[in-house]
Amino acid sequence: MAGKFVCRVSDVPPNSLKECEVEGGIRLLIANAGGEFFGYQAMCPHQDVSLCEGLFDGETLTCHMHLWQWSIRTGEPIGLAEAPLERFALSVEADTINLAGQGSALDVGELFRGVAAGTLEKLAALARAETHAPGTLLYGPGDRAEDLFVLDSGRVEFSIGRDTRTAPGGFMLRKGEAFGWAAMLDGYTERIASARCIESSTVLRLNGKGVTGILEADPAGGFIVMKRLAGMIARYLAVSGTQ
Ligand code: FES
Repeated sequence: MAGKFVCRVSDVPPNSLKECEVEGGIRLLIANAGGEFFGYQAMCPHQDVSLCEGLFDGETLTCHMHLWQWSIRTGEPIGLAEAPLERFALSVEADTINLAGQGSALDVGELFRGVAAGTLEKLAALARAETHAPGTLLYGPGDRAEDLFVLDSGRVEFSIGRDTRTAPGGFMLRKGEAFGWAAMLDGYTERIASARCIESSTVLRLNGKGVTGILEADPAGGFIVMKRLAGMIARYLAVSGTQ
């Protein structure tokens, strides 16, 4: 059998949705669009809401909470939606739907996409994979901002502030999403937010100075990464209403 077992074909009737948990803790939304199967992240990229509870007409998926919509064939946003869905490749064999093999979190994530293979290899050698239990605090306000993180699986929630005076800062659930950016910026030595795993999560931890050192040796790759980083920060500020 190729890949990890997701569910039976018969579990997802035509033009319906099913949420499945795959070995390793990955939660997927499986959609049957007229006999073709598509796999996406289980949770809405807007807030912590299961997409399986949404509406699906065989072509368009609608989150019931704030009516963001996506094309089920591409995961691209439609109308109000501000972010695409992360797609997971599936393979179908007889009555079995499997999760096909995937690239590493560094390859599939936005931050390092398109960087030369040799540079990606150096970054992969620098990365340390860690798996954390639900509730684990990866960092909190005042901690030294030394490491950049890339999510491999699971979900990480952010909050800004201390003790009882905290505000939600969003969450990350897409494989390859990077956080803890301060580690790559000059002059930002301390965390101003906290990052906590809200389910069993695997992250890649990369020393920020190590990353910038590797990128300095590849100026073209470094330019790509810094341009993406600036875009990600601007997007985050726009979504959080601080811009
Ligand atoms: S939670 Fe899904 S659109 Fe807002």
